[in-house]
Amino acid sequence: MLEKRLETEELMDDPNLPEETYHEVLADLAKVNRVTMAYRPTLQFLERAVGNRKSFKLLDVGYGQGDMLREIAKWAKARGIEAELVGVDLNPRSEAAAKAATPRDLPITYRTGDYADLIDNRWDVVISSLVAHHMSHDELVLFLRFMEAEARAGWFINDLNRHALSHAGYPVLATLARWHPIVRADGRTSIARSYRPDEWQALLTEAGVTGAEVQRVFPFRLCVSRIR
Ligand SMILES: C[S@@+](CC[C@H](N)C(=O)[O-])C[C@H]1O[C@@H](n2cnc3c(N)ncnc32)[C@H](O)[C@@H]1O
Repeated sequence: MLEKRLETEELMDDPNLPEETYHEVLADLAKVNRVTMAYRPTLQFLERAVGNRKSFKLLDVGYGQGDMLREIAKWAKARGIEAELVGVDLNPRSEAAAKAATPRDLPITYRTGDYADLIDNRWDVVISSLVAHHMSHDELVLFLRFMEAEARAGWFINDLNRHALSHAGYPVLATLARWHPIVRADGRTSIARSYRPDEWQALLTEAGVTGAEVQRVFPFRLCVSRIR
């Protein structure tokens, strides 16, 4: 079990999901992110990638409810760094959900569309969270090449680790926390769809990327970072 990646679709990707249900799922996903300490590795990456810069321009691919971008806005404000934060998400329903959850004074712009259309935008940093496992092998190779070509300071993938302990432990946590049934089911599917450390090494080689680091982060994450 879990030897091979699962290719089952996730329930939240169903285009026929009612708008209200989709918003509830994203709101609970933001809770999962907080409880499982998912913001921390991305913020630690930014500490290193942004360094002493006084300002930076960041793209978050697949922002969902926008919670990672809100955390980054807080992080930058606390350090006196000027942040230009842009999110792009394929699902048109994410934009309304993220806008509704975001105070207007934060420096965040939400767009609907495919990240691949946002070339030549002089991004300093490109990040994503829980997005890589939604992509096929070939899509992921293209995504790695995009980030390598477009992110001037570095890029960061925050994703899950396809590991038996996570696969067994997540449903227990999700049931205790009473997250939405779709979030419970998709979390387990997501873990089974995710990549393992040796698979990431092969993907990086295929994409022609050198100098990236693959790192397990407690409890469920596997992150890939590249700093120039
Ligand atoms: C599981 S959600 C993750 C949401 C959020 N980042 C989080 O951590 O909670 C994955 C999101 O990636 C988006 N996505 C997948 N492929 C994409 C692409 N090529 N360009 C932009 N967004 C994409 C989907 O629409 C979906 O909203």
